[in-house]
Amino acid sequence: MCGIIGYIGKRKASEVLYRGLKRLEYRGYDSCGIGVVNNNKLIIKKDVGKVEEVAKKEGFLEIEGNIGIGHNRWATHGKVSKENAHPHTDCLDRIAIVHNGIITNYKELKEELIKKGHKFKSETDTEVIAHLIEEELNKFDEYNEENYIKAVKNALKKIKGSYALSIINKDFPNLLIGARYESPLILGIGENEFFLGSDVTAFLDYTNRAVPLEDGDIVVVKNNSYYIENNGKIVKRKEIEIKWNIEQAEKQGFPHFMLKEIFEQPETIKVSAKISSEEIKEVAKLIDKFNKVYFVGAGTSYHACLYAEYLFSKLNKLVKAEDASEFLNKSVVDNDTLVVGITQSGETYDTLKALKYAKEKGAKTAAIVNVIGSTATRIVDIPILMGAGIEIAVCATKTFTSQLMIIYRLFLEYGKIKDRNMNKYEQVINKIPNYIKEVLNQSEHIKNIAESLKAQNYIFISKGINLVSALEGALKFKEITYLHAEGMSAGMLKHGTISLIDENFDTIAIVPPKDSKVFSSILSNIEEVRARNGRVIAVTPIKINDCDNITVPNVLEEISPIVYAPAYQLLAYYKAVQLKRDVDKPRGLAKSVTVE
Ligand code: G6P
Repeated sequence: MCGIIGYIGKRKASEVLYRGLKRLEYRGYDSCGIGVVNNNKLIIKKDVGKVEEVAKKEGFLEIEGNIGIGHNRWATHGKVSKENAHPHTDCLDRIAIVHNGIITNYKELKEELIKKGHKFKSETDTEVIAHLIEEELNKFDEYNEENYIKAVKNALKKIKGSYALSIINKDFPNLLIGARYESPLILGIGENEFFLGSDVTAFLDYTNRAVPLEDGDIVVVKNNSYYIENNGKIVKRKEIEIKWNIEQAEKQGFPHFMLKEIFEQPETIKVSAKISSEEIKEVAKLIDKFNKVYFVGAGTSYHACLYAEYLFSKLNKLVKAEDASEFLNKSVVDNDTLVVGITQSGETYDTLKALKYAKEKGAKTAAIVNVIGSTATRIVDIPILMGAGIEIAVCATKTFTSQLMIIYRLFLEYGKIKDRNMNKYEQVINKIPNYIKEVLNQSEHIKNIAESLKAQNYIFISKGINLVSALEGALKFKEITYLHAEGMSAGMLKHGTISLIDENFDTIAIVPPKDSKVFSSILSNIEEVRARNGRVIAVTPIKINDCDNITVPNVLEEISPIVYAPAYQLLAYYKAVQLKRDVDKPRGLAKSVTVE
C-alpha cells in the first residue's frame, strides 16, 4: 500500500526523499508528496501522479533543507486528489505527517476536532492525526520540544487502527518522529543521518543498517541519536544488516522491471535452492509433527500454498492451502496445528492476521518470506527467507518461483524424514535453472503469440499440480493486460464455462509432463475446446496439433510448475506491452497490501 519515508541528516532531504519515493513507488502510486523543513519553514509539495511527474511539476528538488518526509499514496480514504495526497498538516501548518494504514476511529475524532475549531483540508483519515497532535500540544502551557514529543505520544494513544507514521515539525527541525502499529516501518541508520521507510528499499541507496520497529514503537530521532519507546518504556530493538544489492532495484537495460525479474529466475532459483537450510529442516520436522498443517497466503502467494497442498499429497501428507483473507472464517486451529504463511513482502495484512490468529490459538507458526526484516519474519516461530532479492514490479514473478523452490525443498526434507527415496527429486534440483533458461530462450516466439492474441476473454486450464500454473497464469495475465482471464481445473470447464468458448474466447492450456497421470485427459479437454472453435495456446512438452504451441521441457511433474512459470509470465508481459499497459505498476494494484 502507501509508501512512507523520512530523513534527517546532512544531505539535501528533497533528494533523499525523491529517490526513496521512486524506490517505494511499487507500494502505491496514485499521488505523492514531500514535506521539508528549511529555515523553520515547512514546504509541502504534492499532487496526483507518479513520483517523476509530480517531482518535476512541483519542483521537489529545488527545495533545500535537511529534514523531511515523503509519501506515495494508494487511496483508501478520500478520492485521488491533490488535497488528499500526503503530507497532511495541522491548522497552523507547523506539523506535517505522512501515514500508511487506516485510522478506524477517524470519523469520531474528526467530529470532535471540528467542534473544537480545527479546520480540515482533506477527506483523509490521516489529517486527523496532525490535528490531534496540535490539539494535544495546545493543552500544554509551553510550546517546546519536550511538550511536542509528549503531544505526539498522547495523540497516538487516541487513535485506533493501523499506522506507520513519519512526523516533522517546522519549529523543531532537529527532530524526526516515527511510529508504527500494524503497518511496517523501518529505521535506517547511516553516518550521522537517519531514515524512516516502509521498507528498506526506501533508504538502501544510503545505508544497509536497519532497525525494524515493532507494533506500538515510537522512535524519536534527535541530535544524531535515537531512542525507541513502547508503552511508555524505552526499548532496544535489534539492528540488522541488509545484504540486498541496490543494483537489483535498477532496470539494467531491460525496458521493465518485470522483464528483468523474469529473466533473473535462473539465478534466483539457484539461491533459493541453497538458502535457509536449517530453517527448512526445522519446518519439515514440524510438518511431520503436527496433524493439521495450513499454508496461508494471498494472491500469487496463495497459489504457492496450493503447490504445497499438491506436493505433500504425493507423500500422503495432508496440508491445506488457504486464502489468508478467509482463514479466520473456516480454519480449525489449535495446539496441534502448524501454520506456514507465504508472503513475498512479509507485510500482507490478511496473512499477518492469519499468523497472529494462529499464534493466539496456540499453533506453531512459520513463514516463507522474501523481504528481510519484514513483520512476518519477526512474528513467526520460524522464518524462512527465500532469497529472491528485491522485486520491484508489482506483478510477482521471480519471488513466485522462489516460493515454489522453498516448498519443494520442504517436501524433500519431509520425504527424508519419512524414509522415502527422494533421490530423483533431489537430483533434479540443479537442472531447474537450465530448464528455465530453455523456456526463456523462447521469449521471441512467446512474444509473437502474445501479439497475435485478439480475444477479450481468456481461460487458463490445467490438471493436477499444474492447476497452480493455470491459476497463476490467469492472475498474471489479467493483472497487467486488464483483459479478463480466469484460471480453473480443466475438469471444471465442462461444468459451465465451456458454454463461453467460441472463436472470441481463447484458452491457454498448461499441459502436464508426459509421465503425468493427467497428461492424456487434458488433451481431450483441448479437443473439446477446439470442437467449439476456441483458439488454444498450449504450454506443452509435446507439440499438439491445431494449437499454438509454447514448448517447455518435459520434466518431472513435481517441478513443472517452477519450469513452466516463465512461459505464461512472458505471455502476459508481451501482451501488456503491446496494449501499452503500465506493466510494472498496473492500475489499482499495490505490491504490498497492508490493509484488510
Ligand atoms: C498483492 C500483490 C501480489 C501478491 C499479493 C500477496 O496483491 O500485488 O503480487 O501476490 O499482494 O503479497 P505477499 O507480499 O503477501 O506475497
